[in-house]
Amino acid sequence: MKLNWAERWVVNNPFRALQQRMEIYWMKRRVGRLQGGIVLEVGCGRGVGAKFIMRAFRVSTLHASDLDINMIRKSKRNLAAMDRDGIFLHVADAFRLPYRNATLEAVFGFGVLHHVPDWRGAIAEISRVLKAGGYYFFEEIYPSVYRNWITSRILLHPREDRFESHDLKQALVELELPIGDILEIPRVGLLGISVREGGSFLFNGESQCGTEPARHRHQWNERQDDK
Ligand SMILES: C[S@@+](CC[C@H](N)C(=O)[O-])C[C@H]1O[C@@H](n2cnc3c(N)ncnc32)[C@H](O)[C@@H]1O
Repeated sequence: MKLNWAERWVVNNPFRALQQRMEIYWMKRRVGRLQGGIVLEVGCGRGVGAKFIMRAFRVSTLHASDLDINMIRKSKRNLAAMDRDGIFLHVADAFRLPYRNATLEAVFGFGVLHHVPDWRGAIAEISRVLKAGGYYFFEEIYPSVYRNWITSRILLHPREDRFESHDLKQALVELELPIGDILEIPRVGLLGISVREGGSFLFNGESQCGTEPARHRHQWNERQDDK
């Protein structure tokens, strides 16, 4: 679902850019480096996240997509020629991604799923295109933020089948993307890192078994705490 004027204002401002930057550096600290290969950002909006992903993770190729062609045009205007190096912008629906099965190293999505009517379908699609052991990095908010008495009058979101924390976590497990690390504010939203089941993945340069990534959560945290 495309944004209305009010939410365009909410996401297209310097505070949002700062927030997104801090979130991306949190993700980078948890995971370390990404392998080479294609990384995708879905629902890239005006392209601020794409710039920070490139800088933080030093990926060589980032595909940044959005359902709304106006957002892609805005990204093209916002990203200076230097920042655009390695970033390929295109229109795509998170529900129908133009990639073969198991081809991407990582997928990022900031504030996108709660805009998608069939959000489980979008997670299934992300799971389909990720390689085994690939990462899904995401930020999402819950209905108490975007569908309360005030925001439901000014923002535009799907009304049916909205997810709360447990719905999202359960769907991720069912779709083979269990959360490996999480930062959550109850009833507000969360930052999460899921790992696609069925392969190995690198964490801080060490190979880990990716078949049951949730099991590694404590290892992840302990290692970070040791630093
Ligand atoms: C809340 S904005 C977030 C934009 C940006 N990621 C950010 O964090 O500032 C949600 C974005 O998701 C896009 N979007 C909504 N539904 C989508 C879908 N089904 N597939 C891809 N993008 C979608 C919107 O056009 C919008 O740019």
